[in-house]
Amino acid sequence: MIEKQPLYYPDYLQLNKILNAQDCESAKFGEQAHDETLFIITHQTYELWFKQIIHELDSMIHIFKENFVAEESLHTIVSRLKRVVEIQKILIEQIRVMETMTPLDFMDFRDYLLPASGFQSLQFRFVEVKLGLKSEYRTPMEKKFFNSRLNEVDKKALADVEKQPGLFSLVERWLERMPFTDIEGFDYWHKFQQIVIGMFQRDRVTIENNPFLNQELKALELNNLVQTQHSFDVLFNDEEYDKILKTGQRRLSRKATLAAVFILLNRDEPILSLPFDLLQSLIDIDELFTTWRYRHAIMAHRLLGSKIGTGGSSGHEYLKKTTENSRVFLDFFNLATFLIPKSLRPELPETLKRELGFGFYKNR
Ligand code: HEM
Repeated sequence: MIEKQPLYYPDYLQLNKILNAQDCESAKFGEQAHDETLFIITHQTYELWFKQIIHELDSMIHIFKENFVAEESLHTIVSRLKRVVEIQKILIEQIRVMETMTPLDFMDFRDYLLPASGFQSLQFRFVEVKLGLKSEYRTPMEKKFFNSRLNEVDKKALADVEKQPGLFSLVERWLERMPFTDIEGFDYWHKFQQIVIGMFQRDRVTIENNPFLNQELKALELNNLVQTQHSFDVLFNDEEYDKILKTGQRRLSRKATLAAVFILLNRDEPILSLPFDLLQSLIDIDELFTTWRYRHAIMAHRLLGSKIGTGGSSGHEYLKKTTENSRVFLDFFNLATFLIPKSLRPELPETLKRELGFGFYKNR
């Protein structure tokens, strides 16, 4: 048996390092600014949580890289995604603590920080890239700041991570492998398209016969209907879909999109329950990161007014612009476009229902 010294709490957590890592810049130039410890500790806490998120993302990426993802592994992935979601909620809440600092108190030490900036949070970039945010999706303005403020070692580390597949493309590959829709003798999408055509025909008649709409409003509603119908048509047309992929309006492949729509429509089938949770969690993660970015931009506005950031950006204006543009799983939000009412869903054949059911059902 290995001889083991009794473990001492402060040693295990290396508190000596962590609790002595708050060197206030203001103290080096005169009186220490009271709020600088809050500023440092809040950032350090964020970086620790980023580390945990990266740890979770790495483990999911490792599982998804395999050509086969077992159901037990899917359970692990979903529970870790949900953990990331809970951490994100804390990250958003923490902004309130930072906001207890007033702009005047911030000014006591802000100038000493130049040119250090959140732009240099390598871990934040890792999170973005590991989720699937690619360099080509960033606007020219974002590209300018994306890695230009990093030192050479960090730039190289980021470039290395960028060469690896992120969660988005791995989930896309996993969705593309989903078998259920082209089972012999059963063409789910043919049935789905027929239902959709009928649905649009009925909607057209309803609009045309609506006595409460004048000609102008009717034309407007019919035009909207045509647009929605077009989105469905594109979903079943390889060439048209490719065109949209090339414009960057959509990033998720047609095959993966169809698989995701199938999961959303048939989420009550036991085998699809975890994949459904997975899709929901990705949507949650996107929503919460977008919320964090927006809250952070507002906080920057509150503390800086229209001053520029220490990293040289236009400050809150820049941050607000990056908010919408940094959404990784936007296509998963847009899946809702392709949903039809539950009552209209194509009925699954008994053999397929058994495939999608639990064991005891299969034996019935
Ligand atoms: C007093 C509070 C804060 C203010 C006024 C502030 C302000 C800013 C500004 C103006 C930028 C744009 C870059 C620049 O020009 O410097 C920025 C970027 C950033 N900040 Fe903060 N920030 C604050 C707190 C935080 C905290 C607590 C975090 C947590 C880690 C954080 C993380 C980031 C990140 C990751 C970026 C890069 C965002 C991107 O490029 O999309 N900031 N911040």
